[in-house]
Amino acid sequence: MLMFSEEEIDNYIEKHITKEDDILAELNRQTHVRMMHPRMLSGHIQGNILTMLSYMINPKNILEIGTYTGYSAICLAKALQENGKLTTIEINDELKDFAQSFFDKAKLNDKIDFIIGDALDIIPKLNIEFDMVFIDGEKSHYKKYFDLVIEKTRTGGFIIADNTLWGGKVIEKEIKNNDYFTKGIIEFNDYVANCERVEIALFPVRDGITVLRKK
Ligand SMILES: C[S@@+](CC[C@H](N)C(=O)[O-])C[C@H]1O[C@@H](n2cnc3c(N)ncnc32)[C@H](O)[C@@H]1O
Repeated sequence: MLMFSEEEIDNYIEKHITKEDDILAELNRQTHVRMMHPRMLSGHIQGNILTMLSYMINPKNILEIGTYTGYSAICLAKALQENGKLTTIEINDELKDFAQSFFDKAKLNDKIDFIIGDALDIIPKLNIEFDMVFIDGEKSHYKKYFDLVIEKTRTGGFIIADNTLWGGKVIEKEIKNNDYFTKGIIEFNDYVANCERVEIALFPVRDGITVLRKK
């Protein structure tokens, strides 16, 4: 069995994938300097994977739940079709100016529809058929997000959910009663595994990335 530290292997990966562009690098830095919970940001390795998935899917319309400072939104929107749009929803209005300033810097403001509000209220009102959805909001709501977005995803479209291994906690034998995040992820994983409407792959990358294809 190969033994390596996670940090070393991440350094190696970062040296062998497309370089993080200057705007994303600045966004990454500024998030760590100015924001609470910077670990929530996707970062170079996962952002690069999201961009690649987006290129592969070639979407016209993308939906993202959980903008935070905008890192994953930029990674996904980069690979949109020429006249495509990414709709991204963030519940915390304190993040608005920060994320918007980076959408402007990345010259993606005409491709990104940035909505402040609760995704659970907003998604039912969206009149868009999505080719690709990225679920990265509140972990205890993943099942609810899925039930809403499956109705808005085109047949053959993809739903990607982040953090689906939740640091390995999904396989712990005893989950604390008040550990709503772990419970939410387990509930989602079990639910989609038994859902006849999707095919599923779970990539053990970073914190787990589930890719679902609507049949
Ligand atoms: C893990 S962070 C998102 C990180 C971002 N996608 C990235 O990769 O850089 C989760 C974000 O979801 C937001 N959020 C939580 N519940 C939400 C909801 N119901 N609707 C919209 N946003 C929500 C949080 O405020 C937080 O900014």
